[in-house]
Amino acid sequence: MDQKVRIGIIGCGGFARLVHVPNMLASGRYHIVGTCDLDLDAAKEMQAQAEAQYATDDPQKIFQDSSIQAVLITTRHDSHASLSVQAAKAGKHILCEKPMGLNVAECRAVAEAVRQAGVVYTIGYNRGMAPLVMEAKRFLAQDQAKKLIYHRIQAPFSVSHWIHDARIGGGRFIGEGCHIFDLLCELVEAPPSSVYASGSTFLDPQIVKTTDSGIVTLTFADGSVGTTLIASDGCADFPKEATEIYWAGKAILIENYQRLSVYGVIPEGEYRVSLKEVDKGHRREIELFADAILKGTPPPNGLKNAFRAALISFLAVESATTGKPMEVREDDYAV
Ligand SMILES: NC(=O)c1ccc[n+]([C@@H]2O[C@H](COP(=O)([O-])OP(=O)(O)OC[C@H]3O[C@@H](n4cnc5c(N)ncnc54)[C@H](O)[C@@H]3O)[C@@H](O)[C@H]2O)c1
Repeated sequence: MDQKVRIGIIGCGGFARLVHVPNMLASGRYHIVGTCDLDLDAAKEMQAQAEAQYATDDPQKIFQDSSIQAVLITTRHDSHASLSVQAAKAGKHILCEKPMGLNVAECRAVAEAVRQAGVVYTIGYNRGMAPLVMEAKRFLAQDQAKKLIYHRIQAPFSVSHWIHDARIGGGRFIGEGCHIFDLLCELVEAPPSSVYASGSTFLDPQIVKTTDSGIVTLTFADGSVGTTLIASDGCADFPKEATEIYWAGKAILIENYQRLSVYGVIPEGEYRVSLKEVDKGHRREIELFADAILKGTPPPNGLKNAFRAALISFLAVESATTGKPMEVREDDYAV
């Protein structure tokens, strides 16, 4: 039996080209069979990069290729749900970049199709698989205590970026915030119970019509609280992300997935780890997805986690619009 995952890539843009394809090639556990993009030149460029057999501008060619076991969906956000449903119906395992869908109905359709087909499904919430987040979780597991968490995600996001378009990208809370809502859930390990968001358009409101920046606070069933600051009019010279966690008289600081400092755990002072480079968990995600297909292990970030953070993102948008906190009910993201 082929010990490589035979995969087709749909969406040959910057992220797949710079992150997923290099990681798949480096892993040695993927055979990239076909590449697909509405822009055929982009598909051909990735075909050359991945030494794939063919390039196409028609996703049906990938779905109908019986030699392909799995698909990587790295298109813009408006096509994630429909491509996932089609992939599931074609019996392909799915690694889909975030978000799962742009609304509850899309997420439900994906969950239903994946469940019926019995295929592996992973959503690209990689942050929980970052080595320093995993190390932080080992410290957090030492105490049964509620946590207070602050996370920052800031960057200069061009007004012309498609993420701000509600129809294509869903806006930044849905299109990117979901990453951090998932991270907070991973760190707390209790069900989220409510979300409250305030925010607005900090970029040019003549061009950007979605909420691009704000602060989103999640409360959890165990009393933990996590807040995310999302800034689109951010500073390129300042590190994009940081996480601070306070619990049981101890504190953790994770700086941009590269440096970890833990305070209050060892008598000598602080415990520190530095990585040579930023590691947000993308490589581990690729390995665990291959394991799920080749060894039958549970896929990372399956349907329930995918839907959980997506639902939080939809409720965050509603909260920012209405000014009211929204209840997060486990039944609403059950799959
Ligand atoms: N996990 C992460 O850390 C992370 C980071 C950046 C981007 N992403 C995600 O990766 C995905 C791609 O982002 P990007 O920055 O590469 O965008 P991009 O615009 O550079 O690339 C998207 C590509 O998809 C193609 N496309 C759009 N609709 C299609 C369809 N229906 N069929 C085939 N091709 C289609 C476009 O032509 C384009 O080439 C997004 O979901 C984004 O949120 C994830």
